[in-house]
Amino acid sequence: MNPTTTIAVRAARAAGRVISRYSERLDAIKIETKKRNDFVSEVDRAAEREIISTIRAAFPDHAIIAEESGVHKGNDYQWIIDPLDGTTNYLHGFPQYAVSIALRFRGELTVAVVYDPSRDELFHASKGEGAYLDDRRIRVTQKKGLEGALLGTGIPFRDLTHADAYFGMMRDLIVDTAGVRRPGSAALDFAYVAAGRLDGFWELGLAPWDFAAGALLVKEAGGMVTDIAGGERYLESGNVLAGGPHLHHFLVDRVKPYLNENLTF
Ligand code: IPD
Ligand code: CA
Ligand code: CA
Repeated sequence: MNPTTTIAVRAARAAGRVISRYSERLDAIKIETKKRNDFVSEVDRAAEREIISTIRAAFPDHAIIAEESGVHKGNDYQWIIDPLDGTTNYLHGFPQYAVSIALRFRGELTVAVVYDPSRDELFHASKGEGAYLDDRRIRVTQKKGLEGALLGTGIPFRDLTHADAYFGMMRDLIVDTAGVRRPGSAALDFAYVAAGRLDGFWELGLAPWDFAAGALLVKEAGGMVTDIAGGERYLESGNVLAGGPHLHHFLVDRVKPYLNENLTF
């Protein structure tokens, strides 16, 4: 593991310890509502502080964008942090949530860590060095079509602007595959595509911190990540498709009929 990835792992594990500690007394956690169905708790903030202080100690000049504290200016290296992806699950005691940390250098993702503290599973990747679950190399599946495929997704629940298009995509993909799962943490959904637990994934309206790390994991595991129209602007658009190299274009084909002037990528 390269030294930068080692720091990201240290930060993710430190955040994971905070998250696990609070999970023993969920009832006592203080929660605020950012907007409808968008919650932030003292756990999100405490985990984020832990990550930022670990990164800052090692790389004081790097820039950071973190979900809860926003932009911290710095040089051309930018860390993209979601301290707790799957907050709604977490607050319900539903064990599907993760810490997500990515590093981008001049627009290119170079380091990815997604850590699931409830299962103690650590997914990590460094550009050009492959993707790993703990110390085991992981790869996307080689499925050649939608038949028999298991997909992950995120169902819109805050912003319903594209709900009709989304449910059209979902209906078509349910009919054509072995099933669609909505686990509730986009970071882990991508990690599961990277590990071959899911054959593909799509979601509309994600933020960069939800899946920057996940996107590099999938790519380093041999998969493809694009925006909803099959292009490269996935981090900007947040409308995203991921899958194995032989499956991905079938996902693009299935969602294409639902693109419109407001939902192009
Ligand atoms: C959410 C999760 C969820 C996705 C949402 C995200 P959060 O992140 O990734 O799976 O559907 O769009 O906002 O708010 O729990 O960090
Ligand atoms: Ca998130
Ligand atoms: Ca979050």
